[in-house]
Amino acid sequence: MREAWIIDAVRSPRGRGKPGVGSLSHIHPQRCMAQVLNGLREKVGFDPADIEDVVAGCGAGSGDHAHDIARMSVLDAGWPISVTGVTLHRFCGSGQQAVNFAATGVMSGQQEAVIGGGVEFMSRYSPLHANGFHANNEHLLKLHPQIPQGISADLIATIEGFSREDCDRYAVESQNRAINSIEKGYFKRALVPIYNEDGTLALDRDEYPRPGTDLAALAGLKPSFQGMGAHHAEDYPASFEGMAMQKYPGVKAINYVHHAGNSSGVVDGASAVLVTSPEYAKAHGLKPRARIRAIATAGTEPLIMLTAPGPAAERVLQKAGMSKHDIDLFEINEAFAAVVLKFMKDLDVPHDRVNIDGGAIALGHPIGATGGMLIGTALDTLERTGKGTALIAMCTGGGMGTATIIERI
Ligand SMILES: CC(C)(COP(=O)(O)OP(=O)(O)OC[C@H]1O[C@@H](n2cnc3c(N)ncnc32)[C@H](O)[C@@H]1OP(=O)(O)O)[C@@H](O)C(=O)NCCC(=O)NCCS
Repeated sequence: MREAWIIDAVRSPRGRGKPGVGSLSHIHPQRCMAQVLNGLREKVGFDPADIEDVVAGCGAGSGDHAHDIARMSVLDAGWPISVTGVTLHRFCGSGQQAVNFAATGVMSGQQEAVIGGGVEFMSRYSPLHANGFHANNEHLLKLHPQIPQGISADLIATIEGFSREDCDRYAVESQNRAINSIEKGYFKRALVPIYNEDGTLALDRDEYPRPGTDLAALAGLKPSFQGMGAHHAEDYPASFEGMAMQKYPGVKAINYVHHAGNSSGVVDGASAVLVTSPEYAKAHGLKPRARIRAIATAGTEPLIMLTAPGPAAERVLQKAGMSKHDIDLFEINEAFAAVVLKFMKDLDVPHDRVNIDGGAIALGHPIGATGGMLIGTALDTLERTGKGTALIAMCTGGGMGTATIIERI
């Protein structure tokens, strides 16, 4: 099998995902993705006509995100009509899966130059997006009851014994690391500023982090998912909390520890990663930044849902013929504090090798875009710190995990 090389990775800034509040929220998601694609083109200097496909993750799939946002963004970018685009859904892992599929196309020898990435404008979510993972399928609801992700995260914290303070400490560190990286300009290399229709700047920096976040500030925040626990899924006899306890009978009460300050931020953004064959890169004078060593997915129990980053990481390490000791840096999506705490516990890796620029608790998690962003951040961080290998993993809805190992060239 031939290698897949990462030539470069870019992203938009993450804007707050509230309509009228976030600095990107008035921009159409296709327009933002198109600007990110053109940002990648300008930075690398490739001919867009050479791109065989743009694979984009997107979690929403309706409204302004509807249908195939990848192809629409390609057209919006003014690229040749010969360039195709495909949109995929693996919940929060969509963007990472998009890069992994781009790599698969290249590794298999079927494609030479593919872009993976994704886009999500959470400011444009409608109540439609809240109709549950079962999508009204009563049979599945009985077979595999699934609950809102925030309650799953609280269930993980309860089972693993992570206290509210453990989660808050993790969140404060995420903020401190992200703010340090912003102040030192570490994210600038990957950032594509996003412009308004009139050509004025909309946003050129991440706007979700909150400088000055400390344990005392977080201690005052109310748990976000406690109220939800008492709700009933339609046509189901138990509440969400009841469903969780039926599945995990050892749990007598859920400890609701997650809130706005230790859960991933609701934001808008887009990402794009150029993956090529070695032959294409050499023929076009493109300098590769990394090779994709291995990719993997893993499935775990879907009610608790967010526990698969560990198994996905184990599997990708096995595929790469590596051990955790061969990995210099881990980028694990901070969907909720307990997710990363569990990952570090499962794999027994210390926090100083995990998310060293902070993560989604401070920066936000624009669902379909995040995977491409994490891969780009891992790449920049490896280069900055002079290290060689990174493992990126994410939890997703439905109880899945995505994983990628990259290695600097
Ligand atoms: C947890 C969640 C529900 C909170 O949403 P929200 O209540 O709209 O959050 P807000 O940003 O309005 O913050 C709520 C409050 O916390 C405060 N707050 C948030 N972060 C804070 C911080 N770091 N320090 C101090 N206060 C903070 C806000 O100022 C706000 O206070 P206010 O109500 O007095 O204005 C939302 O962030 C969420 O759903 N996150 C997870 C998203 C998700 O599921 N993604 C997929 C996961 S895999």
